Amino acid sequence: MKLLVCGGAGFIGSTFARQRLQEHGDEVTVLDKLTYAGREENLRDVAGDARFRFLRGAIEDREAVQAAITASAAEAIVNFAAETHVDRSIAEPDAFVRTHALGTYVLLDCARAAGLRYVQVSTDEVYGSIEQGTFTEQSPLRPSSPYSATKAGADLLVQSYFHTYGMPVVICRGSNNYGPYQYPEKLIPLMILNAIHGDPLPVYGDGMQVRNWIHASDFAAAIGHVLEHGEAGEVYNAGGPDEEANIVVVRRIIELAGASASLIEHVRDRPGHDLRYSLSSAKVRALGWSPRVRFSDGLEQTVAWYRENPSWWEPIRSGDYRAYYERQYGRSLHS
Ligand code: NAD
Ligand code: DAU
Repeated sequence: MKLLVCGGAGFIGSTFARQRLQEHGDEVTVLDKLTYAGREENLRDVAGDARFRFLRGAIEDREAVQAAITASAAEAIVNFAAETHVDRSIAEPDAFVRTHALGTYVLLDCARAAGLRYVQVSTDEVYGSIEQGTFTEQSPLRPSSPYSATKAGADLLVQSYFHTYGMPVVICRGSNNYGPYQYPEKLIPLMILNAIHGDPLPVYGDGMQVRNWIHASDFAAAIGHVLEHGEAGEVYNAGGPDEEANIVVVRRIIELAGASASLIEHVRDRPGHDLRYSLSSAKVRALGWSPRVRFSDGLEQTVAWYRENPSWWEPIRSGDYRAYYERQYGRSLHS
């Protein structure tokens, strides 16, 4: 297949691009704005592949999108492009509205004009928090943060293009991803790097919030599966095999990194913090997908990857990330 992968320089998009090139023989064009979270380095190992092309551009820029569709001769668009950090959406929601509402609209419109299949990558956060039980695709959308509300809005827009125009769209909603190449503003890489450097580990509130962890390689495979086998107009949830409370995850990272538990610091809770996410993946499992990586193994491999790849995270940790960290946590990083 010839694919246009929007947001493919980010954490999951680059995992997906690599997987499609190396395991499926697809041609992949990445269109990415390269925000603070997007990095061409994430695609370094496929940059020399003749079937790969990188284009810098925003999904809300119609000319850039049309040029990318033409250059890639795409048969399908897979849209990962998004602002993805909940804390940033609370502090500064503007870019979230622009990318998720306007960007998704422009992409859909261009895809429709070109007659392309379209996959929207979405999140379990659109369902809100669930204290008991598990969300299915039938659960109502009750997003809590500007991040999840704008992602939910994008999902509704995508569905409207199926209902109104009969466009072949599918939505794949994932639970919390982890693995190599994740920007260190997110819980797992932030805690790993702080543990390695002897910086305090800032746990929001009591740390009893639960997340449903999926390795990025498993989520990427689910998206590929839905791209190939999903029914037009349908939503597919892809949840990980394990759920864990944040404080348990942080303690395990400390163990794996050989750091001291005294680094744990309970800090002010996130406003509107969702207590628990949990996704049923029965529908996508019925299509033939299942997750392969258990959280205990994946977390150990992820800690090892960050230990072994300082050349990937050093430029981040010594750059703008430091100023972000000070704004968000009210303290600076040691080193
Ligand atoms: P990320 O922040 O690592 O990467 C996002 C990428 O999108 C970056 O490369 C960035 O430069 C690019 N981008 C942002 N705005 C853009 C725009 N306007 N035009 C073009 N490119 C733009 O994010 P991620 O964690 O890889 O998430 C990818 C997708 O998966 C998102 O849609 C997110 O909502 C969804 N998702 C993420 C998770 C998770 O746990 N990380 C879970 C479920 C779903
Ligand atoms: O559920 C899928 C979502 O998972 C994705 O759609 C989002 O893009 C992704 O960012 C993620 O959202 P979360 O808010 O769950 O992830 P985050 O890594 O920010 O936080 C995970 C949990 O850890 C959450 O309960 C908040 C807590 N936390 C986070 C940070 C950054 C802390 O306790 N301390 C921290 O410093």
